[in-house]
Amino acid sequence: MPLSVTVVGTGYVGLVTGVCLAHSGHQVTCVDIDQAKVDMLISGKSTIYEPGIEDLLIAGRDKGTLAFKTPESGWRDLIGDVTVVAVGTPMAPNGAADLSQVRTVVEALAAAADRPFTLVMKSTVPMGTGASLRERYLDQADVRIGYISNPEFLREGKALEDWFKTDRIVLGASDEADLVLMRELYDDIEAPLVETDVASAETIKYASNAFLSTKISFINEIANLCDCIGADIDSVSRGIGLDKRIGSQFLNAGIGYGGSCFPKDTRALDFIATLNGYQFTLLKSVIEVNNRQRLLPVVHVMRALPDLHERSVAILGLAFKPDTDDVRESPALDIVPLLAEQGAAIRIYDPIAADIAIPGAARVTDVWRALEGASAAVVVTDWVEFTELDWARVRSVMTGPGIIFDGRNCLDPEAVRSAGLTYMAVGREGQHRDDLA
Ligand code: UGA
Repeated sequence: MPLSVTVVGTGYVGLVTGVCLAHSGHQVTCVDIDQAKVDMLISGKSTIYEPGIEDLLIAGRDKGTLAFKTPESGWRDLIGDVTVVAVGTPMAPNGAADLSQVRTVVEALAAAADRPFTLVMKSTVPMGTGASLRERYLDQADVRIGYISNPEFLREGKALEDWFKTDRIVLGASDEADLVLMRELYDDIEAPLVETDVASAETIKYASNAFLSTKISFINEIANLCDCIGADIDSVSRGIGLDKRIGSQFLNAGIGYGGSCFPKDTRALDFIATLNGYQFTLLKSVIEVNNRQRLLPVVHVMRALPDLHERSVAILGLAFKPDTDDVRESPALDIVPLLAEQGAAIRIYDPIAADIAIPGAARVTDVWRALEGASAAVVVTDWVEFTELDWARVRSVMTGPGIIFDGRNCLDPEAVRSAGLTYMAVGREGQHRDDLA
């Protein structure tokens, strides 16, 4: 049966949630305080870059199952039987998750409610948040407000696929009545339901992201070791990934993870652990390895080109991964200023990444303009466009040793080398690096 659903926040998680639930036939209202965003969504334009989302957005709007509003005239009439909170939980300066937006919304909803509803938390919130929101706001309301912790596991660029073909749906609840409603909400999605208490559901979200980050930092350490001993990380990844207990995903070595989730969530989990008197040693190392890994291209380009102040460097890719315009916590944001500090002239090319100013670097709109006259190029994002480059032409436009630092191990080393370029990567074919030991 279609449910009346309100989704608060039209950021990445909120918009995907609203559009997908409307596609499943529910009556959805997406609410955002930003009038410009709401206007854009009403006009059928997505506010995030996500393949396929605009088609579903327009279909829902035209069918009348998807509406966009601001809370300008009060929350009371906006509250749905299911009201999903999907506002941001950015990182505070101390590494903790900043819950101010979540608290503001939950307080407003609890104060405005004049009929019972179920509040679904999709924002990533630290363990214990559900309990504290219940005590501070929900239990103070005039009506019953159920609470469900329902973390999301969407990857940017693959969010629709991840929504409809999810590996699992996690539901943390304290009341069976709320679970009944949630089963109805996700009726059309075939996936195992993990029904548990609120604190465990909150933990599942952080533990999932921390585990995936651990896999990445682990394979990066093995890759660095491969460089020291002359082994090949591609073979090693394949060799260990075929063990079903390990699995082949998230074993791509390179310059480490970025994005709006892994860096923030690992630091927040470390903060939660510390706050609870526990030293999460493994997680601290995962974070440290990742911070160090993104410096690799800087170390190697500086070493190969001691006269960097007279050179140009091309940065290929600014997004934290392909198929997104998101540059949050992209390794490029650390790499570029360090190379610029050495006096290198830097040109950045990315097919779609958000246009942000990085001091000391110029953004160009064509990969050839970035490569023209460059002595080194650093591949930061594994866009297909870079894997398909004409390497003979690259050699002809680059100068000096023509260093290609493949920060994502995504290029064909032989194709690059046979064009007369100098290929460097992370743990591939034994490059005997001992500097990070
Ligand atoms: C991640 C998780 O994969 C989602 O399940 C989760 O819902 C989401 O965070 C979130 O918490 O909202 P996302 O940040 O979109 O999704 O990106 P991923 O595809 O997981 O990639 C993260 C970073 O790891 C990228 O910088 C990527 O280049 C890097 N990565 C990934 C590697 O360096 N090696 C790998 O093998 C895989």
